[in-house]
Amino acid sequence: MKGIVFTEFLDLVENKFGLAMVDKIIHESNLEANGVYTAVGTYKFSDMLQLLQHLSANTNISIDDLLLVYAEHFFSVLAQSYPGLIDSYKDPIEMLASIENHIHIEVRKIYPDAELPTFEVLEKTDKSLIMIYKSSRAMHYFGLGLMNKTFEHFNATATIELEKIKEDGTEVKFIIKQD
Ligand code: HEM
Repeated sequence: MKGIVFTEFLDLVENKFGLAMVDKIIHESNLEANGVYTAVGTYKFSDMLQLLQHLSANTNISIDDLLLVYAEHFFSVLAQSYPGLIDSYKDPIEMLASIENHIHIEVRKIYPDAELPTFEVLEKTDKSLIMIYKSSRAMHYFGLGLMNKTFEHFNATATIELEKIKEDGTEVKFIIKQD
């Protein structure tokens, strides 16, 4: 998992819960990188999972909700870092339908070792999209947060339903309807 995912996560934890919480979850975890991350490095996903688990235990917020809020923050980081990528779209449904065959392809050129999910488009109309998310990391709520912010970015709103195909969240159907 890319370092930028860790550095932005720990910044957000510091902003919302304070530096003491950052120290606490780092010390409670058994981290390969000892809690020291740089934006350009690559680290084990299990480090992120432990940080999330301990933050969840200390705040009583579910990991899904933490991932949702974190993704909404991460979208603005992406929008600032890669404006050209997002600006090449005029429409949220078009953008989301292009994660797999454009956006994440570009991401892989920048970070060859990125651990990305797959999004398979099953059905698409001007105002709706059905996609299957697949990833061993089961970060479907992270995907949901990024999708919410994608609609907001284009001044639009949508109703997004998640249907788990696999109980562990490694395969999830997204049913997206623009309002
Ligand atoms: C992960 C880039 C848009 C879904 C990531 C990661 C990067 C990235 C750098 C982390 C990879 C790693 O840690 O190894 C981008 C950029 C985008 C973009 C630059 C737009 C400019 C989106 C959108 C979605 C999405 C719109 C909508 C669903 C995900 C998910 C992950 C991810 C779910 C987590 C990894 C997983 O589930 O396996 N993306 N992304 N991305 N991205 Fe994107």
